[in-house]
Order: sequence, then structure tokens, then C-alpha cells
Amino acid sequence: MQKYDFKTQPSILIQGAMDTETEYLIEKLEGREKITLGNWEFHTGFLGKYREPVIISKTYQGMVNAAAASSLALACFSPKTVINQGIAGGHDTSFHRGDVVIGEKVVPMGAMVRRYAPHGAGISETDFEPLPIEIFDKGLGKTRKVVDFPCDERLIAIAEQMEAGLTAGRGVLGSADEWNNQIDRIALLRERYHTTAEDMESAAPAELCLSYGIPFIAIRILSNSVVNGEEFDESVGLEGQKFVLRFVEALQGL
Ligand code: 5AD
Repeated sequence: MQKYDFKTQPSILIQGAMDTETEYLIEKLEGREKITLGNWEFHTGFLGKYREPVIISKTYQGMVNAAAASSLALACFSPKTVINQGIAGGHDTSFHRGDVVIGEKVVPMGAMVRRYAPHGAGISETDFEPLPIEIFDKGLGKTRKVVDFPCDERLIAIAEQMEAGLTAGRGVLGSADEWNNQIDRIALLRERYHTTAEDMESAAPAELCLSYGIPFIAIRILSNSVVNGEEFDESVGLEGQKFVLRFVEALQGL
């Protein structure tokens, strides 16, 4: 049999920032091979009962790392779908640690325009609005401004219909190089960006996939919820990966 060529043949790109978000999936790969591009590792192989060709990418934490790893993967492989997954912190009290947020969209919650204030007027933490940011829309062949990055409706519907064994629901993922613990600030972010939970990576691949026109979904399991007084436990990343494995199997034929 001819070797599957991950550079040119379609695959699903699955991203996670840390070991706790990637190790189980890498372990489950059949015919696993590691490709290193720059500082980033990509594990190719076949996942799940339908042996879906996938690439597991460990992005490392934060927006720049996630953008770099995504850009390398989009340039060097041929993903037909991108899943950014891992752990997140809750903003909405109806989601608890261990619950899964199926991203309906990702908002870059660090993108803000601050209202003018003169010298000596002081600094208001609340005088800002979401800042529209420019993407290059490959389909249009030109740039346009957006305030959020929608996830793919078909992917969302499949994730929602899955027998998860976990509490899972649609929500908005706010993403920035931030870790918020002030309850009033989280309430403000929810008011301005309508966030359900926050993470530090998903906006980067969401923006790039919107730019390239590649179907994208973010799936995050809550590892903490300061709004519910639930402390950080990164080990939930394992349950998140199991959810993603079932999701990949549910995508069969897409
Ligand atoms: N705020 C921001 N990022 C969080 N993460 C988990 N909880 C939070 C939170 N409350 C995710 C990030 C990052 C790592 C620390 O875990 O995406 O990769």
C-alpha cells in the first residue's frame, strides 16, 4: 500500500497547547510519525475506529505559539478541518469544571479600542469596545474586518449530537494572553464579548482558518471556574481528549 502523504492528502488537524491536552491522542495514533517544523512537533497517524488521518499539533501556550503552529500546519499539510481543543476557565456559572464548551464562535477578547481620555483623567478599565480586526479573506481575495471568528455550523451540530457522557453545550470562547480572576472583569467581558469561557490559544487558529476558509471548531473542557469557586485541575484535559476522539469518529465521511 502507498504511504499516506500528509503534506498533500486531506487530514484533520487537532491542536492542543500542553501535554495534558495532547498526550492521550498522540498515544492513540496508529502508524505514528513525528515531524518537527521550527520549534513545533506534529504527530501524523490514524485515529479512532475509522482510522481517520489526523495530525496532532502541540502548539505550546499562548496566542503567538498557537498562531505560529497553525501557520506552519496550514502551509505544510492539507487539513480539511481544524479542531483546537484543550482546557479553559469558566465565565458562565452554568458551566462547571469538567463540562465541555462547544465553541459556536471564538472572540479575540484582547482586541479592544479604548475611549479617548485627556491627560490626568485617570484610567478606566471599563471604557472600551471590542476592536474589529483585519483578516485576509482568501475566498474574497481581499481583507475585511471582523469582531469574532465563527466555528463551522456542521461541526458544531455533530459535536452537539454526540453521546458525550459529559455535560456539553454551545458557547462563546474568549481567547487572549490573559488569565482573568476578577469576577467583575469577567462580568464585563461577558457583557462586551458574550463569553462562556476563556482560553489562551483558540482565537489564533480560528482567525487563520477564517482567513483560509478552512472549517474550524474549538472544543474546550473547563479546568477551572472562578465564577463558581472551582479551582484549576488540568487533569480534565484527558476527558477533553477522549471527547475529541469520539468527535473525530463522529465526523466520519465529512
Ligand atoms: N484563563 C486562561 N486560560 C486558561 N486555560 C485554562 N484555564 C484558563 C483560564 N482561566 C488554558 C489556556 C492555557 C492553559 C493555562 O490552560 O488555554 O493554555
